[in-house]
Amino acid sequence: MLDEILEHNYTYGFTNETLREYMPLVDVAGKDVLTVMASGDHPATAALLGAKKMTCFDINRFALLWGGLKLAAFKTLTSDQFMQLFFDEREGPIKNKDYLPVRDALDPETLAFFDEFVKRKILREDCLVDNPRSQLIEKRVLYLDHEKYEATQKALCNCEISAVQSDIFDLPHLQQKYDAMFFSNIDSKVPADKYRRMMEHDVPEMLKDGGTCVAAYRYKPVGEWDDFHTELFRPDKLAKRGINVLKHEFKDPFADTHHVVALYKS
Ligand SMILES: C[S@@+](CC[C@H](N)C(=O)[O-])C[C@H]1O[C@@H](n2cnc3c(N)ncnc32)[C@H](O)[C@@H]1O
Repeated sequence: MLDEILEHNYTYGFTNETLREYMPLVDVAGKDVLTVMASGDHPATAALLGAKKMTCFDINRFALLWGGLKLAAFKTLTSDQFMQLFFDEREGPIKNKDYLPVRDALDPETLAFFDEFVKRKILREDCLVDNPRSQLIEKRVLYLDHEKYEATQKALCNCEISAVQSDIFDLPHLQQKYDAMFFSNIDSKVPADKYRRMMEHDVPEMLKDGGTCVAAYRYKPVGEWDDFHTELFRPDKLAKRGINVLKHEFKDPFADTHHVVALYKS
């Protein structure tokens, strides 16, 4: 199982988005959230910001397993143990002694996968993209600060979380409505016409009134992506479905300007 999963999938060890800048722009406190799993940092941050219920999706089995490991680590480890598990020799194998306390909090599939991963001393550098130092990650997320780590731990224990392996385009089949949705930069990995159709037809149905969908993360300032935006997010068409489009710019840890495109349902 492990070889097959790793052969066809790779995932981000930690986020490469400045989540701490844009996720607080969305009101998730006490709300229902749909988020990409990716590295597990999106759901961890949404929980810290107060999400009550969360569905984590990803097309990639390894991302769901890695995210499951990280969310279980939050629930079971102190912040020092968490740092040791994820950042001590972060490109080498996961050490058994660091992994053992997390085992009890894993579901059977994630447990079987990581038991083998640890036993076979799989190198993280061989299967994770962007697994940087903690000094960079703390500039991208909120939870590495000691007090915030404990708040994240408590929030994750109080949040009802489910995970589903799904293509983004199959999410409407879940037939659920959400207050907030986080789609990372999946827009850049899929056909533009399909994504545009989803924004115009499915997202307005999936959002509750007053809800927000963070529909794209861009690694450039707004102006440099105007054509791209126009293709994916047509304000006139979206307005007919009660959706307003806004772009929020912010500085990333290297002082570059990034932005997100957010869809708001009135
Ligand atoms: C687009 S990637 C980029 C990583 C991201 N910037 C971060 O900070 O973690 C985020 C996740 O989207 C998932 N993904 C890519 N295409 C997808 C699709 N069509 N449907 C669902 N998930 C997808 C990937 O497996 C990955 O885990």
